[in-house]
Amino acid sequence: MMPEKSAIASAVRTAHADHAGDTGGANASYIPYLASVDPSLFGVCVATADGDVFEAGDAGFEFALESISKVCSMALAMEHTGLPEFHDKVGADPTGEPFNSVIALALHGGKPLSPLVNAGAMSTVSLIPAASADERWQKILAMQSAFAGRDIRLSDAVNDSEQSTNFHNRAIAWLLYSSGSMYSDPMEACEVYTRQCSTLVTTRDLAVMGATVAARGRNPVTGKQVFDPSLVPPILAEMTMEGLYTSSGDWAYRVGLPGKSGVGGGVLAIMPGTLAIAAFSPPLDPAGNSVRAQKAVASVAAALKLNIYNATDFAQ
Ligand code: DON
Repeated sequence: MMPEKSAIASAVRTAHADHAGDTGGANASYIPYLASVDPSLFGVCVATADGDVFEAGDAGFEFALESISKVCSMALAMEHTGLPEFHDKVGADPTGEPFNSVIALALHGGKPLSPLVNAGAMSTVSLIPAASADERWQKILAMQSAFAGRDIRLSDAVNDSEQSTNFHNRAIAWLLYSSGSMYSDPMEACEVYTRQCSTLVTTRDLAVMGATVAARGRNPVTGKQVFDPSLVPPILAEMTMEGLYTSSGDWAYRVGLPGKSGVGGGVLAIMPGTLAIAAFSPPLDPAGNSVRAQKAVASVAAALKLNIYNATDFAQ
């Protein structure tokens, strides 16, 4: 059931006001660009499956999409392979290890387990049919833009910063290749994956991207069907299992909404059929999730009594 507009507006305002003074966490430092972003930035936004948008704070500031890009590429690859093949090749289980873990690959015969860790995301990118790196990239960029309902663009500053420091991901790409879990040239997949992380979005874009999933694959602002509705349940299942990395279980327990984070400071959560909650603030916890964005999203979800494990009818 859709909450009242006034209740959503108030939940967004309150989440921002209650956490505006919070400190804690530290910007990602392994990507030089991210270390330089102002840590005081803080935006909160809700977009509904009806296309209404409510925002507070720095919701118009553009930041690096990072790992949240994995959701868009997952939808693209699932559409091309079909769900059984995607599940078989990439997987749907939490790794229990950090998002860039090599040990996780070693423990599971080189299978990535999830499209939402770096290894699985590069496998995912390699599954998108393309004759060149540029074609692969253009398909992903078009998908991100369709999710957000506007032309999303690459930040050369973020991309240069990432591509020139990306040695660990390149090693993972070669390990995937050696274990048979890489379906294109490994360096092409790694390079395009790194570009997909280096696009700029606002907190508002993030909320509309989430609302596109909440609205069964149809962007509620543009009215365009972005991906097939049959992909929504597996996308949300993947987000539940690994969306916040080693904190995914804690997040499910405390908040109860499928979510996805990025080291740029974005956090997104989705109440299927209803709305998406997005927040952004650069300082991260040790798992790589924004400290303040997690708090803000949790605050909005609690205020609106949204939890997929506690259907509204039973929550009264
Ligand atoms: O590949 C990386 O490490 C980054 N481009 C993205 C990682 C990320 O966002 C993990 N998030 N919390």
